[in-house]
Formats: sequence, C-alpha cells, structure tokens
Amino acid sequence: MSAQSRSPSVLVEDSPAQATQVAADLFKTIICEAVDRRGVCHLALSGGTTPHALYQCLTVPGQVGDADVPWRKVEVFFGDERDVPHDHVESNFHMAQRTLLDNVPIEPSRVHAMPADAEDLDQAAIDYERIIRRIVPAPADGVPGFDLVLLGMGGDGHVASLFPGTEALSERKKLVVAQHVPVLGRRRMTFTFPLLNAARNVLLLVTGPDKAGAVAKLLGEEPTAKEDLPAAGISPAEGKLVVILDAQAARLASVKPAK
Ligand code: 6PG
Repeated sequence: MSAQSRSPSVLVEDSPAQATQVAADLFKTIICEAVDRRGVCHLALSGGTTPHALYQCLTVPGQVGDADVPWRKVEVFFGDERDVPHDHVESNFHMAQRTLLDNVPIEPSRVHAMPADAEDLDQAAIDYERIIRRIVPAPADGVPGFDLVLLGMGGDGHVASLFPGTEALSERKKLVVAQHVPVLGRRRMTFTFPLLNAARNVLLLVTGPDKAGAVAKLLGEEPTAKEDLPAAGISPAEGKLVVILDAQAARLASVKPAK
C-alpha cells in the first residue's frame, strides 16, 4: 500500500459467516450512502467463493436494513471475468446473477457484464472501459470513481484477475485489460490498479486458512514480502480500503478478532 494512501481498516471476525455478515452490512451501508449523496451507486462485483457467500448473505430476507437498500439505483459492473460465456458455470457474471442479481430489484439495463468471451478480447476490454467512462463519473484527473469495488483474494495474493507476475500489474494507463494468466492457462479480463485505486471504497473480503500467508504479507511491515503480492497494490488514493477477515485468514497476521 503506497505511503500517500490511508492505511486500511482491518476487521477480524471469529468465523467466515460473521466476516461475511459484517461485509454485507458495510456493502449495504455504502450503497445507501452513495444513493443518498449522488442518487446512484456505481458498484464493481468480484467472482470467487468468498464473494459468492456475500451475495447470498445480501439477499437473505429480513436482514437489518434490507428494505432500505435502493437496488434500483445501483449500476453493476464486474472487476474481472473469466473467458467463458455468461451462462457458463465458471462465469463471474453467472455466479453473481444466480446468487444476487436475480434476487434483488436491480434494473437489468444497469447490469454491465464483462464480455470476456469475445473473439477479440483486447478490443472487448477497450469497449468495456468506454462503457465505464460513459456511465461512471470521473473527477478532473479522468479516472472514473466507483462507489464500491468488492474484491476477494487468492492464496497467491491475486485480486480481481491481477495475478502475480502478470503484465496487467504494471498497467498505468488502461483501466481494463485482457491478459493471459499462465498459472491458469487461460485469458482473463480485469480492472487495473488505476481504476481499482480510484474507488471511493474498496472492500476486500478474505476468509479461510489458505489465505493466511498472503494476509500476513499484506498486513505485515516487510516491504519485500509485498513485492509479488498483487493485493498490496490496492491503495485507494482518496478512497477507503476496508479489509474484512475471519480468524483463520488472520491467524498469521498481527491482528486479532474484534471483541
Ligand atoms: C475470480 C475472482 C478472484 C477471486 C479470488 C478469491 O474470478 O476468481 O475475481 O479474484 O475473488 O480468487 O476467490 P475465492 O474466494 O474463491 O478464494
């Protein structure tokens, strides 16, 4: 995390379910605040099993504040996508659609799936960036500012589809790129750091023992440990980074569950 950004807020909950519930409550609060202040919430979703649990939690009926969430005022984008059709079981869009988007009153015209299965993936990334620039307001320096970007993190410290050792990590001009990910043997489309770090709020939800090593590097003071840790590149210049962990993911880091 760069020096000029604020240090992240780190919340540690005892269990994955508690961490997910805290993340869901914060997620809804940010949506309500954005709509109260600006009449719309620009949101970027993530894929993976941790976000999957959060989406399910967001739609459990009778949750606190449930009725107040102005879902019709939410514009939904995706921070990354796999190179599969949107009805494929591996698609981040498909997962979010089944768990969240089909279960809350979001306007279908305000859901912008990433075309990561396009023939020309590089052109598709350019086109997706154009849609973001058309819909999400940008301050003077020209990078659109999402109200909320949700991220999970892999055990290797990847966020979105910014994997260790990949070209997209060093992209500073384009906001959305397509890239081959050697460790997966597949292509992915992903937000780049300039877009992620322009967000007002980045919510990083990480649970499970397999993430403990990456979490300890992310939250530790050892700069060399962060060199090949993509999550360490998340440092919103003006915005807030909130890291929500369960005790297992936090067990090697010098942070303890909130009491
Ligand atoms: C994806 C995600 C990816 C995910 C992390 C965490 O396309 O898979 O965007 O960044 O959030 O890999 O995934 P888990 O929660 O499944 O560990």
